[in-house]
Amino acid sequence: MINFVELNQLIKEAEKWAISLRHDFHRWPELGNNEFRTSKRIRRELDQLNIKNTKMLKTGVVGLLENQKGSTIALRADMDALPIQEAVPIPFASERDGIMHACGHDVHMAVLLGAAMVLSNIKDKINGSIKFIFQPAEETTGGAKRMIKMGCLEPKTDYILGLHVKPDLPAGTIGIKYGKVHASSDTFKITIKGKTSHGAYPEMGIDSMIAAAQIITGLQSVISRNISPLNSAVITIGKINGGSAVNLIPDTVILEGTIRSLDYQSRELLKSRLKEMVHWTAKAHGAKAEVRFEKGYPVLVNDNLIVDIIKNTAICETAVEKVVELKDPTMGVEDFSYYLEKVPGAFFFLGSGYKGKDNEGIHSEKFEVDEKCIGIGIELLVMAVMKLLE
Ligand code: NI
Repeated sequence: MINFVELNQLIKEAEKWAISLRHDFHRWPELGNNEFRTSKRIRRELDQLNIKNTKMLKTGVVGLLENQKGSTIALRADMDALPIQEAVPIPFASERDGIMHACGHDVHMAVLLGAAMVLSNIKDKINGSIKFIFQPAEETTGGAKRMIKMGCLEPKTDYILGLHVKPDLPAGTIGIKYGKVHASSDTFKITIKGKTSHGAYPEMGIDSMIAAAQIITGLQSVISRNISPLNSAVITIGKINGGSAVNLIPDTVILEGTIRSLDYQSRELLKSRLKEMVHWTAKAHGAKAEVRFEKGYPVLVNDNLIVDIIKNTAICETAVEKVVELKDPTMGVEDFSYYLEKVPGAFFFLGSGYKGKDNEGIHSEKFEVDEKCIGIGIELLVMAVMKLLE
């Protein structure tokens, strides 16, 4: 039997320790796939906790608290920081020029290590195994996908949980979302080829610029006419390149952008309609066009039963003050979606803002965290693991 007074004491200790770890991670942020120092520190701490661990990819770490019986639950934290210059003079501000933990991944790692400390102390009383996945490069190259390929979910993982800080919810609060949480993303590059001529003699050339302009506006009708008004999708062109002189019609224009959608069918439809629209619009102008797609993250879909477990655990068994049920998914992305394609689980949000303050969003150079959320995160992970293994 678990003694809950002792467990609370353990969580308090873990919280203190995790906050000091967070300060260390925050002070020494590392970009995606370069989390070498971070990785070393995590492995050292897992060793101290007597948690068997292995390196995966260049900087990923997988720890395992093994039990011969019961299910296996994986808990995941991402590790990478962002190329942002920190602009808040906190005592443990980033020591690395132009790099900052501006998405709270330092908090995610600290919370996971805190949970690992508590769980390693009560492992004989838990009916199952727990896997701790520290994953590189969430922000860039989809570390999740490569960790799965390397076998981080093998030999068996029954459930997976992940969390992300949320500065627009105050610390003490958590956010849950049933079903779809994040969109899928793909990027595209359109190359439009015409024929150059002097700007004063357009009849001598094929204007790739005009074709590009028609394509840019035309593509928005894919969203408004091919996707149901009750569904959501986005096509954004964020980059346009072409031309070299004010009086010259360019032969080539390149457009680059991103596609977001909330289901597989829309994702495929957007790609095929984009291709058609580009091809025929270019042709109508006598130009040629080529489209290249780069596949991004899939839609992140939570398992509703596990979301229920998180919700009930938070309300009944933790110091969480409020559970906010988020109504809408976001069109942003998160590579936790790859794990959820393989294993049922839930991704939820840890309120991390200061109460009563207009908190800066993630990816801001002024991003800050109310560290009260760290203890809450540890407690919720520990309690949810126990519930899932019951
Ligand atoms: Ni993030």
